[in-house]
Amino acid sequence: MKLKKAVIPIAGKGTRFLPATKETPKEMLPILNVPMVHYVVQEAIDAGIEQIIFVTSSGKSSLENFYDRNLELENFLMEKGKTEELELVKKLGSSVEVLSVRQKEQLGLGHAILCAEPFFAPGEQFAVLLGDDIILGNNPVTKQLIEAAEANNADAVIGVMEVPREETSKYGIVDGEKTGDKTTKMNRMVEKPKPEDAPTCLATPGRYILNSEIFQVLKKIPRGAGGEYQLTDAINELAKTKNVIAYEFDGDRHDTGHVKGYLEATIEFALRNPELKEYTLQVLREKIKRYE
Ligand code: G1P
Repeated sequence: MKLKKAVIPIAGKGTRFLPATKETPKEMLPILNVPMVHYVVQEAIDAGIEQIIFVTSSGKSSLENFYDRNLELENFLMEKGKTEELELVKKLGSSVEVLSVRQKEQLGLGHAILCAEPFFAPGEQFAVLLGDDIILGNNPVTKQLIEAAEANNADAVIGVMEVPREETSKYGIVDGEKTGDKTTKMNRMVEKPKPEDAPTCLATPGRYILNSEIFQVLKKIPRGAGGEYQLTDAINELAKTKNVIAYEFDGDRHDTGHVKGYLEATIEFALRNPELKEYTLQVLREKIKRYE
């Protein structure tokens, strides 16, 4: 069965972005003129995903609306002859099918993923993408992980990157034996270990290929780090009996979950945009001269 579905949890309250997130979901904050969530959704689409399952909470309806048609706006743009803008808006509603399910209590990432269980058949593989990380590369990370799952006949693949040891307590960290240039056969995974306890510095920024078997495991795990049901703990359990691999992806990762990372990503995206590059450099040069 070809992998066609992705789960994107978007239930978080975005407390690191208050007050902006008081009324606007963090995922709808834009980097340039594109909401953050759309960079992640686009990665999924570019990896061949046809159906996105958002795990939402109250106050997130603008995300669902973003991927719906907006006939009033379409008619307005048509009447004004704004064909380019019209195409842009129409494409959002047609490029991918968006479904959603509510996470009624914020009990952790593991609990959020379990909310998506009704959308999957037994044994079905799916991708999980966390929205705080935008990863740019020639080959979408999710596609790299799908290919790694196929090549290694893996039950689950965890996208990982090497981080400085002092940062291990921010991530799920994997442990295992290297089996290739980029692949590690996983034997365990730990959620946010202290640097001195971290088995490796291979961290996941929130890209996974899982199998619907994970739901059975998620139902059994106890609360873990931070008193929450952790996806990491379920993957750790799965790795005891199944073929779970970690894959060191190629890509440039931006952590947009906090203000500094968001600022860095905004500058990076502006510099990558051919229409904005020269202007951005000019602004930066002027600002450096003035403030340094
Ligand atoms: C979650 C996961 C963690 C992962 C991280 C990536 O943590 O639990 O394993 O490394 O996302 O961003 P959070 O940052 O939501 O606390």
